[in-house]
Amino acid sequence: MTSLAPSPASFVNAQDRVLNVENLEVAYGEVQVVFGVGLHVSKGELVGLVGGNGSGKSTILRVLSGMLRARAGTATYRQHNLNGVPPHKITDLGVAHVPMGRQLFGQMTVEENLLMGAYLPRTRAGRTQNLQKVYDFFPRLVDKRSTPAAALSGGEQQMVAIGRALMSEPEVLLMDEPSLGLAPLVVSEVMRVIGSLRELGLTVLLVEQNVRQVLKVTDRTYVLELGKLVKVGPSRDLMGDPDIIKAYLGV
Ligand SMILES: Nc1ncnc2c1ncn2[C@@H]1O[C@H](COP(=O)(O)OP(=O)(O)OP(=O)(O)O)[C@@H](O)[C@H]1O
Ligand SMILES: [Mg+2]
Repeated sequence: MTSLAPSPASFVNAQDRVLNVENLEVAYGEVQVVFGVGLHVSKGELVGLVGGNGSGKSTILRVLSGMLRARAGTATYRQHNLNGVPPHKITDLGVAHVPMGRQLFGQMTVEENLLMGAYLPRTRAGRTQNLQKVYDFFPRLVDKRSTPAAALSGGEQQMVAIGRALMSEPEVLLMDEPSLGLAPLVVSEVMRVIGSLRELGLTVLLVEQNVRQVLKVTDRTYVLELGKLVKVGPSRDLMGDPDIIKAYLGV
């Protein structure tokens, strides 16, 4: 029997997988750091990838954004292979990366930084409209449009970094540690913003060390330890999981 009710994003068919990673093995030179990782993100999902220092989170994101080639396994966006594809081609396909540390041009204004995100020929025509969409989504940036990025607060800089990625008209956003270096209150604010990215129709893979915050905003979360997945599940369930509480949420 088919149900007319929309199924929760976490239980959609394999065909609805926007990002798909299978048996991923990644090494830096001779040193292997990712071992047989498989994960997927379905259309409209906000999925977390968490783990401690050096567990391989950024390494996996680097493969998905074309900065690193996996030694084995597959990484696909819809029907497109991503492994070994150059970063600008991956952005052009619709997968945008919000790098760790935001990597803005500090002396350039907010608006100039945002426009940097519209460098692809595909996105040039719509860039004025997209800029307006970014300002609608981040009203706080409107008054700062002519301010050098370096003069913004950490939270505002993170918004610019997300906004710049949105300028490439992505379907998927890959985010690496957006909470890094931010004060706790600002972290909550940035996480709320990330939660609301779904309203723009985006699919998000969120890499974070801040497990508590991730579990609050994501649909599902993968937990990585020393390059191997140790848990995956609905974030709500993981919040009550004794192993997770002990390792990451300890009071
Ligand atoms: N460019 C590199 N060359 C060699 N080894 C690296 C390089 N980048 C990362 N590594 C190693 O790979 C492993 C995984 O690192 P990675 O940066 O993916 O971890 P992470 O989970 O993102 O950690 P963090 O939370 O600290 O950002 C670590 O042991 C790290 O030392
Ligand atoms: Mg990292």
